[in-house]
Amino acid sequence: MSYLTFDGVSKRFGGLQAVANVSFRMARGELLALIGPNGSGKTTLLNILSGYYAPDSGSISLEDTAIHGLKPDQVAHRGFARMFQLTRVFRRMSVMDNLLVAGYAVGLDHAAAAKNAARLTEELGLSHLNDEDAGRLSGGQQKLLEFGGCFMGEPTVVLLDEPFAAIHPSMKEILARRIKERHDEGQTFIIVSHDIPAVLELCPRAVVMNAGEVIADDATERVLNDERVIEAYLGGTAG
Ligand SMILES: Nc1ncnc2c1ncn2[C@@H]1O[C@H](COP(=O)(O)OP(=O)(O)OP(=O)(O)O)[C@@H](O)[C@H]1O
Ligand SMILES: [Mg+2]
Repeated sequence: MSYLTFDGVSKRFGGLQAVANVSFRMARGELLALIGPNGSGKTTLLNILSGYYAPDSGSISLEDTAIHGLKPDQVAHRGFARMFQLTRVFRRMSVMDNLLVAGYAVGLDHAAAAKNAARLTEELGLSHLNDEDAGRLSGGQQKLLEFGGCFMGEPTVVLLDEPFAAIHPSMKEILARRIKERHDEGQTFIIVSHDIPAVLELCPRAVVMNAGEVIADDATERVLNDERVIEAYLGGTAG
């Protein structure tokens, strides 16, 4: 049975069709790449999925429950966790407190949150920075912290928007390794990325968007050799 189902999802901003009739299904535990040129609608699709926009038409279901049109906190309550294209951390709070807040938000008590937070900073190589203000971390460390925040609870689906952008190779490696481990444990992911080598290494399947539409959906290697996909990337911009 399909776990996450997008059926004819569309979203228009004024005269611009940002997402056009997007349909695809995901199985539980899939690690899916969502790729495509700048402006092709990837972040908008994640924004719809996580409740920031209602689609103009179409539906999104998690198992057999419709989730489109819910508010972001309601989607989060269903276990969706997300990293943003522009990193979001509480800059004037410590690394540990950032994670504790993420833990309280998913309903953990302090002891459980503290335990998970300590484990996560250890795993992500951030434990020496536990008491540091998050705003003092490098961009890559902030991404790792935001990634950690996704796992304070037990997420149903984790959405990562450009997790590898502008991040030091050593941190990229930590992030990729942690994504892979969690995928092996059965975690469902959607990863938006322009980092084609990383996508090829991590994601067995890729959905490609161009000008709001899905133009390919197949095994990642096959998709990357698809003429329409190559043309879309070479063409540069959407529409
Ligand atoms: N809130 C908004 N209001 C108006 N237009 C928007 C809004 N959000 C996105 N767009 C437009 O919708 C289109 C799709 O944008 P989106 O951010 O989804 O693309 P993307 O595939 O994530 O691009 P990138 O790879 O550059 O991050 C773009 O033309 C963008 O300018
Ligand atoms: Mg984007």
